Amino acid sequence: MCNPDETPDTARSRELVGEYYDDPERRPAFVRNMFNRSAEYYDLVNLLFSLGSGAWYRRFCLRRAGVRMGARVVDVAVGTGLLAREALGLAGADGLVIGVDVSEAMLAVAQRNLPIPLIQATAEALPVAAESADFVTMGYALRHVTDLQAALAEALRVLRPGGAILVIEISAPRHRLGRAITKFFIGTLVPWLSQLVARDVRARILMQYHWRTILNYMPPDIIIAVLREAGFCNVTCTSYVGLFHHYVGYKPASPA
Ligand SMILES: C[S@@+](CC[C@H](N)C(=O)[O-])C[C@H]1O[C@@H](n2cnc3c(N)ncnc32)[C@H](O)[C@@H]1O
Repeated sequence: MCNPDETPDTARSRELVGEYYDDPERRPAFVRNMFNRSAEYYDLVNLLFSLGSGAWYRRFCLRRAGVRMGARVVDVAVGTGLLAREALGLAGADGLVIGVDVSEAMLAVAQRNLPIPLIQATAEALPVAAESADFVTMGYALRHVTDLQAALAEALRVLRPGGAILVIEISAPRHRLGRAITKFFIGTLVPWLSQLVARDVRARILMQYHWRTILNYMPPDIIIAVLREAGFCNVTCTSYVGLFHHYVGYKPASPA
């Protein structure tokens, strides 16, 4: 980092300035509009992107984080509800899953799909009571959040002591071959297929943006450090093929 006042998050997202928005201040509005415009075909594109394994993988990560019957889960950046649906399946009727998202159109799709409370708000200012959740989950959204430190502080606030955060993210592989394959698949093939299937050029732009955010975002070791700095303990990262990562961290049981 060149500027000591700059977080890794802002440093990386700055690289997208000019390509998608001309002013970092416009990033939150850009992200919200982007997801508002893509809400109707998000699930379809996601199916393509994950080669149909999305639901299984989300459930697997939730299980690994310890989500089980009776759990109270706040799913931040719930989107159309793909992660929340799996959380609800694990938490059951005795549990509670609340979804929060900044995009009203994504929430409208989630509303159609899921019988859970949904709130339009940002990750940086969660309208959820302190220490009310066993889990805060965030699927494929970390790299879209504007103020990561504020979002993690909020996650920590709403978790009960001992509660866990689960972050599921994609990072560009470090190995050159893996990076080249990923670039072709996620950066080129998926965007074009998305446009073809959704019959909408915006589907391609959305997926190209996803690839740019993946490419420009923090690598896993920095994300682990950021989670620790935010106050989470026992942070672990489980990775597959250098591309899929899920992070679990805990709110300390007593103040440090
Ligand atoms: C790629 S989607 C992920 C949706 C869902 N978690 C999943 O697993 O499919 C990212 C979501 O993050 C939301 N989002 C982006 N920035 C946000 C913020 N600062 N606060 C809340 N939601 C945000 C977007 O509106 C979008 O619905």
